Amino acid sequence: MTEWPVGNVQYLTLKSVEATLQFGRIGGEVAKPGTVFCLNGELGAGKTTLTSGIAQGLGLDEVTQSPTFTLVAEYSDGRLPLYHMDLYRLAEQASREMDLFDEYLYGEGVCVVEWAQWIHDFLPDDRLELTIHKLDQPDAREIQVIAYGKLAMDVLKEWTDRWSSWQWIQQQTN
Ligand SMILES: Nc1ncnc2c1ncn2[C@@H]1O[C@H](COP(=O)(O)OP(=O)(O)OP(=O)(O)O)[C@@H](O)[C@H]1O
Ligand SMILES: [Mg+2]
Repeated sequence: MTEWPVGNVQYLTLKSVEATLQFGRIGGEVAKPGTVFCLNGELGAGKTTLTSGIAQGLGLDEVTQSPTFTLVAEYSDGRLPLYHMDLYRLAEQASREMDLFDEYLYGEGVCVVEWAQWIHDFLPDDRLELTIHKLDQPDAREIQVIAYGKLAMDVLKEWTDRWSSWQWIQQQTN
């Protein structure tokens, strides 16, 4: 069994939509070629909102919607290519040609996969797993981030360092 270093799991509270967008923006800014963000969480948890933030952080205009007619949308105008997959409709289908996704999951761009659990066995070993939970307050979310692999660990460290600094600045200015 692989032993993961201390610090590969982080729990954060996102108190508003804006906080989720800002957390995503930082994620987009610190993402590296090959970074895979796997997003899980119930309907309406905030996966697409977080994706919009990541897209903005990569320098793209807001990605407000999930791809409707395809499972993957490609955006090439940012700092790195972004592949946004929403696999909701794949749910529990028995036969899947998962190598369809390999060019995105193992490419040099940034991948964001909503409902990533449906292709769990096909995900790269090096990836960030993010699970969003709704909290009692309607606009609050808890997010668990787990980094698997060296690239993901590096991204997570930078991401949470920058997020802490942003929160500290917010506290000073409010
Ligand atoms: N802190 C928050 N972060 C993200 N979304 C929030 C937050 N607070 C409230 N919301 C609301 O929750 C909803 C999240 O919707 P979103 O489409 O991002 O979820 P999703 O997880 O992608 O859902 P689906 O599974 O249907 O794709 C939005 O209506 C948003 O305004
Ligand atoms: Mg969504």
